[in-house]
Amino acid sequence: MCRFREFVGALRLGRVIAIMATHKSHGYLIRVGNRQTIGCVVAATVLMLTVSCAPERPPRPPSAEVLLAAGDIANCRAEGDEATAKLVDSIDGTVLALGDEAYPRGSAANFEGCYGPSWGRFEERTKPVPGNHEYYTEGAKPYYDHFGKAAGDPDEGYYSYDLGGWHIVALNSNCGEGRVRCGPGSAQVRWLKKDLAANEGRACTLAYFHHPLFTSGEYRPGIPEMKPFWEALYSAGADVVLNAHDHNYQRFAPQDPEGRADPERGIREFVVGTGGKSHHPISDPIANTEVPADDTYGVLKLTLRPKGYGWRFLPVADRKFTDSGEERCH
Ligand SMILES: [Fe+2]
Repeated sequence: MCRFREFVGALRLGRVIAIMATHKSHGYLIRVGNRQTIGCVVAATVLMLTVSCAPERPPRPPSAEVLLAAGDIANCRAEGDEATAKLVDSIDGTVLALGDEAYPRGSAANFEGCYGPSWGRFEERTKPVPGNHEYYTEGAKPYYDHFGKAAGDPDEGYYSYDLGGWHIVALNSNCGEGRVRCGPGSAQVRWLKKDLAANEGRACTLAYFHHPLFTSGEYRPGIPEMKPFWEALYSAGADVVLNAHDHNYQRFAPQDPEGRADPERGIREFVVGTGGKSHHPISDPIANTEVPADDTYGVLKLTLRPKGYGWRFLPVADRKFTDSGEERCH
């Protein structure tokens, strides 16, 4: 029986009298005539060569990227944003602030006194878009001052980036504010088409902006100025749109810009106006509404995978509503 302890013992006793070269870089002293010891040396050598010559394990694929999204967030006179911020505290991921971050006017005082103490602590991982309340202060200047480069050019407010193989587009839906336009020939839509064309090889694309084209809540049936965004995104095969503005949660079935169900090529829209400001009721859901919820603050967690995504609505501590699912990209 071959035991490594015996081999070591033989060495200690000074009975090693010969050299067997088993590899050009390895030499071993063994006791001639002791078959057990020779066997141990061979076994130990094979083990060593196996370990030293074994191919390196391929690196583990990067873990999926996580997005945490909500809009309609901070109001100094309520605690909803504090509750949703606690959800974000416990999860790593990129934070998408979907507009109307700081009520009531997106002023410097609103950002400093209301947004700052709650969602402000995620500033280093936040990729925001502006809402209409940010533009209640001229040019949404405090918004751009607060987020700095992360918010894009203050004259535009739109930008894009890549995350875990996905292409992510942040748009400015405050059409008519300053130089912001949303029409089919506008600078923003021309930029959007060009940006999407430059990324057509990507399996998955997500866009987010404050105002929803489709909604079953207070702004039912939606904001028609968003249609050129949708037309460009749909043509490019985009998968997901995230919005807010209506203070509730809504998940829609994949649909085209006309609101027709399209399971193959349609865009799935989520309204996530659940950041903590207030609740807007949903009484008569429009076509393709799959899940409406109008009484629960929370954030939408999206897990971005190479060819698909999972979603889960995370409610604040005292609420039970949730929604989850999985989808492949187009
Ligand atoms: Fe809004």
